[in-house]
Amino acid sequence: MADWSPATYLKFEDERTRPARDLLAQVPLDRPRRAVDMGCGPGNSTELIAARYPDADLVGLDSSPAMLAEARNRLPAARFELADAASWVPGGDVDLVFANAIYQWVPGHLAQLPRVLSALAPGAVLAVQMPDNMAEPTHILMQEVAADGPWAEKLRDVARGPLPPVLTYYDALRPFAGRLDIWHTVYNHVLDDAAAIVEWVKGTGLRPFIDPLAPEERAAFLADYLARIEKAYPAAADGKVLLRFPRLFVVAQR
Ligand SMILES: C[S@@+](CC[C@H](N)C(=O)[O-])C[C@H]1O[C@@H](n2cnc3c(N)ncnc32)[C@H](O)[C@@H]1O
Repeated sequence: MADWSPATYLKFEDERTRPARDLLAQVPLDRPRRAVDMGCGPGNSTELIAARYPDADLVGLDSSPAMLAEARNRLPAARFELADAASWVPGGDVDLVFANAIYQWVPGHLAQLPRVLSALAPGAVLAVQMPDNMAEPTHILMQEVAADGPWAEKLRDVARGPLPPVLTYYDALRPFAGRLDIWHTVYNHVLDDAAAIVEWVKGTGLRPFIDPLAPEERAAFLADYLARIEKAYPAAADGKVLLRFPRLFVVAQR
């Protein structure tokens, strides 16, 4: 897959940062000494952690060079390093691992989360948020377009599966957690029109579908997808559309 585009991702910065704020608000720590923002992206989530914990030794980690460059521009005082969540192990002095909207991209994340939590010292916190939207029209329709077009063979295996049930996360993390808080929030983001919904997913969930396509194929895919999105997300009385967006939150304290 091509590298992430910070500019495309940040088109909806307010909406995308809202779950990071909601997640951070539930972290039961007053003064973490060392905090890690795993999958820091362009630094929007790192900025929130820095504001809440100005005395913490904070590092943002990400596997995307483009995202890290953007994050360094944004927060020159903070530290940002290249890392892969699939193999990263937190040091025993890390009090907070914050991971907003990243683990859904990490293969086998159900095994990764207990691996990270179990490496933390007593009292330390793993805070995770992941989109739980594979059953939403945005994601069902991208799979339908992928299956219906001349690109079907090329895109045969790109769809991500749905998140496992909450009980599965509970059972995986409970052996390593003194305190475990899991909840869902369904956001209804007010966007200008159906085209804005397409722009939103272009920055995230649509990337594996359109990155492998040649430019003309990509244009045809997006036109077909937009037509289906327009039908699935009718305009409100004021012309806006509501992007329904369920997200899963997990705050586990060692
Ligand atoms: C949707 S963005 C989230 C950015 C930010 N945390 C936020 O709250 O908006 C997901 C980020 O996870 C990063 N990422 C994906 N897979 C990763 C991996 N295996 N290791 C580290 N970072 C990864 C991507 O590069 C991207 O910057």
